[in-house]
Amino acid sequence: MGLGWWRLEMAAPAELEESLLWKLPLLGVSRVALQHPPEAPERRLLLAWLPESDWPAREREQLERALGPLGEPFGLALPPIRWQRQDDEDWSLSWKSHWRADPVGQRLLVLPAWLAVPEEHAGRLVIRIDPGSAFGTGSHPTTRLCMEALEALAEEREATGRGTGLQGLRVADLGCGSGILGLAALRLGAATVAAADIDPLAERATRENAALNGLGGPVEGGEGPTPLTVRQGSAEALAELLGGQAADLLLCNILAPVIEALLPCFVRLLAPGGVGLLSGLLVDQAPALERDLNVAGWQVEQRIEQDRWALLRIRTAPDVA
Ligand SMILES: C[S@@+](CC[C@H](N)C(=O)[O-])C[C@H]1O[C@@H](n2cnc3c(N)ncnc32)[C@H](O)[C@@H]1O
Repeated sequence: MGLGWWRLEMAAPAELEESLLWKLPLLGVSRVALQHPPEAPERRLLLAWLPESDWPAREREQLERALGPLGEPFGLALPPIRWQRQDDEDWSLSWKSHWRADPVGQRLLVLPAWLAVPEEHAGRLVIRIDPGSAFGTGSHPTTRLCMEALEALAEEREATGRGTGLQGLRVADLGCGSGILGLAALRLGAATVAAADIDPLAERATRENAALNGLGGPVEGGEGPTPLTVRQGSAEALAELLGGQAADLLLCNILAPVIEALLPCFVRLLAPGGVGLLSGLLVDQAPALERDLNVAGWQVEQRIEQDRWALLRIRTAPDVA
């Protein structure tokens, strides 16, 4: 018998949906799907698959306890969780059946590794993702906010005659997860992406997803640099990977307190005049982070909100990138 899985099933009240999608990967659960029954789209079902060997009863109980407080701000009790053991084949079938081609913005398409490009999305820039082990399948609002902001930046540069899309830009992706944001930047024309994540699984996933998209090694027939390089670590590792030359564009989709703690490192990662896209914060957390950014000498150009999540677009000085 192959490896087994625990399938977690829970009704997901609308108020808790975002917190659950956020919290589960932080607790080590990355294979998460939300099901919207077509006959009752207001009823959401949260599904997650956990490797059986890593999640004995005690660990699963701890997980339930860690999720419990998520309902408190809304005066809700966490709905009961149902656990069901599944064999490997059942898992891969049920997991994969929840993934669809996912158009983002006007130009991008996040495509599960095993699917062909659907005809209706034929003109889009495809980012192939194996949503195996790391955060970043494009379904989380914070990831979408970043991808949409990347697209908007590409459009602005085109409209102001600064090249096609993100052409020529050197990008730093801090907290890369599956690598999805760096891959989107490359699809939109960026020259190179240096990526880092403290989670070794994320480093591996980013490397694998880069290879899946043909962006993990030198471009065929070309002599230029490898488009996407990745290291395990945080800002320090990323600065090293950038070889002492700060990037034109910084992507950072991590929790607000983590961004706050990483702020002093941004000067080494983002060149003067470059653009930073910071996400992963709740709308309520934006004003405090904006204040701290201003104090640290960053200009907050834009705040974009989606559901309860926010993205801040920052710059050191007007008018370069
Ligand atoms: C919300 S996920 C974002 C993943 C992906 N960039 C996306 O937008 O979908 C945050 C990622 O940041 C990583 N992370 C958390 N703290 C970090 C830190 N201090 N330095 C680098 N990465 C960190 C986590 O391991 C996780 O993969």
